[in-house]
Amino acid sequence: MAGLSLRRTRQDAAIRELTRQVRPSVDQLIQPHFVVQNISAREPVPGLNAVYRETPGSLLEQIEADLDQGVSKILLFGVPAEKSNTEFDHEFTAEQIAAVRQRFGKQIWIAADVCLCSSTPHGHCGILNESGDHVMNAASVETLADAARLYASAGANCVAPSDMMDGRVAAIRQTLEQAGLDRTLIMSYSAKFHSSFYGPFRLAAESTPDKNIPLSDRGSYQIDPARPNDALLSALRDDREGADILMVKPGLPYLDVLAELSARIPKPWAVYQTSGESAAIELMARENLIRREAANLETWTAFVRAGASIIITYDARHARTWLEK
Ligand code: PBG
Ligand code: ZN
Repeated sequence: MAGLSLRRTRQDAAIRELTRQVRPSVDQLIQPHFVVQNISAREPVPGLNAVYRETPGSLLEQIEADLDQGVSKILLFGVPAEKSNTEFDHEFTAEQIAAVRQRFGKQIWIAADVCLCSSTPHGHCGILNESGDHVMNAASVETLADAARLYASAGANCVAPSDMMDGRVAAIRQTLEQAGLDRTLIMSYSAKFHSSFYGPFRLAAESTPDKNIPLSDRGSYQIDPARPNDALLSALRDDREGADILMVKPGLPYLDVLAELSARIPKPWAVYQTSGESAAIELMARENLIRREAANLETWTAFVRAGASIIITYDARHARTWLEK
C-alpha cells in the first residue's frame, strides 16, 4: 500500500489552481481614503504604499484612477481643520461624500467612517470630561449618531462607527430610521482592539491621543488584546443592536478572533488590515526582505480562510495587477 501522497496535488500550477479552497478577489476589497481640509496639495502617509492625505480635488482623481483598477468600494475618513471637544461640524466630511456621489453616481459604494478622533484637539474618539480623564459615553454617542445621519443623507451607502462607545450602533440605527434612511448599512468596528498597529493611520487622520492629558491612550474604550471574550460580547451586542456587517481589527494578530466570531455569528464579517500591518509589509519590501504583492496576497488569503468576506486594505488599488500575476 502506497502512503498518502500530498505532493501529487502540488506538482504543477494547474493542479494547484484547481485545488485552492479560497481565493481573494478584488470584489471583496475596500480601499480606505483620507480627505483633509485646508491642505494645498496631497501628502504621502508615512510607511504606506502610495496612500495619501488627499485634498478634496485629489480625492476624486484618486478614486477615478482606482476605479480603472476595478476598485469600486471605499471607506472614507474626513479630517476637518477645526478641532473642538464640544462643537462638532461634520459638514466637511459630508460635503466630500456628496462630491464623490455627485461625480461617480452609483459606480462607487461609499462607507463613511464615523468617529470623533479627527475632530477633537486631544485625539480621543469621544468627548472628554472636564478633568480630561474620561470619555463621556452618552454625549459622544449623541454626536456620533448626528454624524452618521449627515453622512447617510449626503449619500453614503454605509456608515462605519469606529469609536467603541457603548450603545452607538443602536443609537445610529434609531437616528437613521427616524430620518427615513432605512437603507443605509451599518458596518460596526465590533472587535476593535487596543492595538499598536494603528501608527500611520493616526498621522494621516490627525488622531494621535494627546500624551499630556490624564487619559493618554484608548485603553478605556478599545478591547484589551488579552480578552477575546470581550470581543465576542461586543460583536453579539452590535449584532443585536442592528449592525449589518461586523468587523475584526487589526487582522493578522486577531485571526483567531475572526475565525471564532465569524463561525458564531452568521452575519457578513469584515477585517481591517490596519495601517501598521500594511506598513510592516511595505517597509520590509523597501528593504528587499519580502515581496509586497506576495505578502499581501498571503495575508488576504488568510483573512478569507478565517471567515472574512470583506477586506479593508490600503493596497486594494494594486490587487488586480497582483492577482493577475
Ligand atoms: C479610530 C480609528 C483607528 C483606525 C481607524 N479608525 C484606530 C485608532 O486610532 O485607534 C485604524 C486604522 C488603521 O490603522 O489603518 N477611530
Ligand atoms: Zn476614533
